[in-house]
Amino acid sequence: MILAGGLATRLRPLTLVTNKHLLPVYNKPMIFYAIESMVKAGLKEVLLSTSPDHSGDFANLLKDGQEFGLKLYYVVQQNPKGGIADAISLAKEFARGDKLLVILGDNIFDAKKLKSAVIKFKNIKKGALIFGVEMPTESKQYGVVEIDAHGKVLSIEEKPEHPKSNIAQTGIYIYDERVFDFISGLKPSARGELEVTDLNNSYVREGTLICEFLNWWIDAGASYDELLRANNLVAEKVKKGEL
Ligand code: G1P
Repeated sequence: MILAGGLATRLRPLTLVTNKHLLPVYNKPMIFYAIESMVKAGLKEVLLSTSPDHSGDFANLLKDGQEFGLKLYYVVQQNPKGGIADAISLAKEFARGDKLLVILGDNIFDAKKLKSAVIKFKNIKKGALIFGVEMPTESKQYGVVEIDAHGKVLSIEEKPEHPKSNIAQTGIYIYDERVFDFISGLKPSARGELEVTDLNNSYVREGTLICEFLNWWIDAGASYDELLRANNLVAEKVKKGEL
């Protein structure tokens, strides 16, 4: 599943008319990178969640997904302020009791490790897998992952005032089929959303959350500066043949 809803208020006025995930990142609309990551992971069917105002734009651009080599399905998140876990709940019928890979549509990253993680996760009976990335400094603007010396996840805190590590939780998650039960037990956070961090902490409490690491990652929708950084980084990687 790719999440491409939300209001993207942090990027206004760029997002007043255009959906954030359709903004350009170097030579492609942002959403292309998440779709190409799904292809690299070997997936053949992808559900795209969008906001009510922009579903037509995505359908015009991406059609049935054939040009990318996969089959695309669409779902509309009626409440764009519902949060990431609310959007994931829309995939219940699509998942048909199977495991689910979720990518936030504004995340651009080194997808090399994704395929091996997907294969590894197929053999895992229960749990969830998240991807972390080491940031140059501790960051308050993401979910922050605390791990012990053996790589076990101890906690994840959403945008903490006092980060316990410099590991950011990226927007790439793999869940077992119980994810929808966990989501139904969540309560909205202070910002009124069903938080992916609360969802992932359900697995932390159970001791079944795995954290893998990415070499590089960027949340292109986080701010104007991150969008600019994404454009420059992608241009550099494309020219070097790394993306
Ligand atoms: C969301 C998650 C956060 C994660 C980030 C990655 O943040 O809540 O834990 O680090 O995506 O892109 P948001 O973009 O909703 O502020």
